[in-house]
Amino acid sequence: MIKGFFKLNSTNSANLNDDYNQKNNFSIIYLLLIFILISCTNTSNKILTSPDNKIELGFEIIDGEAFYSINKDDKSVIKKSKLGILLENKLNIGKNLEIIKVSTSSKNSSWSPDFGEFDEIIDNYKNLDVSLSNGEINFNIVFRVYNDGVAFKYHVPNQSGITNYNVIDEYSEFNLNSDDTAWWIPGFSYRRYEFLYAESAIDKISKKFFSENIEDISYDTLGIDAAHTPLTIKKTNGLHVSIHEAKLINYSSMTLAPRGDGKLEVELYPWSDGITKVKLEKEIISPWRYIQIADNSSELLMSNLILNLNDDPNENKDFSWVKPGKYMGVWWEMIGTNESTWWESKYHGAKTEKVKNYLDFASKHNFDGLLVEGWNKGWYPDWCCRGDGIPFSFTETFDDFDIDFLSNYGLERNISLIGHHETGGQIQSYENQMEDAFKMYNKYGIKNIKTGYVNDVSKNIKIYDENGEISKEWHHGQYMVNHFQKVIDVAAKYKLMIKTHEPIKDTGLRRTFPNFISREGAKGQEFNGFSSNGVNHATDLPFTRLLSGPMDYTPGVFQLNNFRYTEPGSGIIDKDAIIPSTIAKELALYVVYYSPMQMAADLPRHYKKHPEAFEFIKAVPVDWSDKVVLNSEISQYVTIARKDKNSENWFVGGITDEKDRTFELDLSFLDVGHNYKFKIFKDKTNTHWKENPMEYEIDQFDLKIKNDSSTEIYIAPGGGFAMQIEKI
Ligand code: NOJ
Ligand code: CA
Repeated sequence: MIKGFFKLNSTNSANLNDDYNQKNNFSIIYLLLIFILISCTNTSNKILTSPDNKIELGFEIIDGEAFYSINKDDKSVIKKSKLGILLENKLNIGKNLEIIKVSTSSKNSSWSPDFGEFDEIIDNYKNLDVSLSNGEINFNIVFRVYNDGVAFKYHVPNQSGITNYNVIDEYSEFNLNSDDTAWWIPGFSYRRYEFLYAESAIDKISKKFFSENIEDISYDTLGIDAAHTPLTIKKTNGLHVSIHEAKLINYSSMTLAPRGDGKLEVELYPWSDGITKVKLEKEIISPWRYIQIADNSSELLMSNLILNLNDDPNENKDFSWVKPGKYMGVWWEMIGTNESTWWESKYHGAKTEKVKNYLDFASKHNFDGLLVEGWNKGWYPDWCCRGDGIPFSFTETFDDFDIDFLSNYGLERNISLIGHHETGGQIQSYENQMEDAFKMYNKYGIKNIKTGYVNDVSKNIKIYDENGEISKEWHHGQYMVNHFQKVIDVAAKYKLMIKTHEPIKDTGLRRTFPNFISREGAKGQEFNGFSSNGVNHATDLPFTRLLSGPMDYTPGVFQLNNFRYTEPGSGIIDKDAIIPSTIAKELALYVVYYSPMQMAADLPRHYKKHPEAFEFIKAVPVDWSDKVVLNSEISQYVTIARKDKNSENWFVGGITDEKDRTFELDLSFLDVGHNYKFKIFKDKTNTHWKENPMEYEIDQFDLKIKNDSSTEIYIAPGGGFAMQIEKI
């Protein structure tokens, strides 16, 4: 058994480009000397520090097994945790390990996304590449230490003697403490990522806890107990952590399974055989597993680690045609107000005359797109939700939807139709039609497509082979990861932007493939239409789902009660249906939840009742140059200020859970000595998410900013506020 150990601290990291070759360059005496040094200086786990020296990564081999650990400012983030992968043919690359070589490098640069939350993103890290061998197979574990976290990945290069690179298991651990608090949704469960968040001790992550406290999923017995990522953790030592993966390409997605004593272990979604996790041919490059580390909840929201762990687009690919925008839709009247149908009927939503009226309204108010759902053949009352209905057509329109006329009508008014492809999870049918469908959209000047994958069974993506035999895949296994990527790649060929519902989670690939412009991937507003998210879900999202990237939440519903009919044509209002929000909060969400495609989800007739608040939706940008988190506490409240990409103006949004609050907002993010015009949409003292959700007031004033300028704002229970700040 060999015990290897490399101590590379920040003082000697300038020389870290040297390669160490244990076999050739290190004499036994030198190794012994290092061990003596380490024990004397008691720096046993300190291997690589972050550029600001606050985060320390330790890596060591003990009895042939690889371990890492992470500290920040001498507080433990991740205790000693195992690494390793099991390949097919029982090739265990976690045992009998010997370090062959260690090389290090560093990077300190910045880059500018074409659109996003920041003008410039700093990319500053130290890199440690450890080459290992167990005598049968050579591989590398690569670490990166940033100021805001640590990432690692496995690389098994192509090598002689190995014929099979299939992954059977991954052993990566994240060893936290039992009483650290986690905010999580269950993996391997019927509704993909569309769940409310549970808050519990790490060891409690289970379908049992979820069923007892959040929603009954106990009958969903197929999968294991594990949480999806990003998984948010507040440690008892005060550190805030988010564990997630970056650059998920041609791999299966990762969940985190509790192993007791605060330990989490990676569990990958398997293929339908239940055994193979990842099928690969020549080499293994795992996605990055990363741990975002912050001193407080606001810092957690400022990280760009996920984007830094991805690459710029291929330089031969032009994505300059990808543009952020705002859209309305023939949508809420099906999913929210329940007055129309997706399928042809007396109450069909996508009728030419009605869509034309929407185009008039949306173009008059300068929206870029109009989503139309239920335009294509294949919709019928029982279309939902087991992936085995009549397949949708993506090229044939219903007879009462005149796509020729409507697309032209829109383009003449500077607005394009947004296409909709609900696949029902019938992947082969979609892939067979995809290219024709994209060509057709090109013909009609359509630039955006909303895709959808409603199939509410855990493991039910049906794949038919040549003999008609069916295998059933998980929604987030390698097959689907590759499908989502295929859609993005083919769409890019046709210059189409994709916004996916029921997607694969965001792992930062939007940097490389900007046409994957947004996605759902959590419980969005739609659930408030046909059921309810409760009043406390909106403040969970910024600290959980939104850490991974933009969300198509679809905010901006103004008619918050008495909005839903019992059924199309009934004329009877469902008095129990309410949206647990306030109008001021609905406005705030445009700033708090980042998405380069934002929807104004409500109906024109509801917007007409509140013209001033609607002006905010029209004015709020979808592309930003800067962001400041003014206050926050996970799942309780958050206030975010963002600077418009194209002006010196700022917008601020703040939201609270069911508690009312009074915020004293520090305005020092504005330029001191300059004058600004403020317009604030806020709850009134008698506003309440349940009792009185639609009352708001507008405050307007000019202010010359001093060092200590601040403003006080009251937020009602379940409410929020939105601010427009114009530099004058
Ligand atoms: C679920 C999506 O999230 C929703 O937005 C869409 O309207 C329905 N599926 C139908 O495709
Ligand atoms: Ca959905």
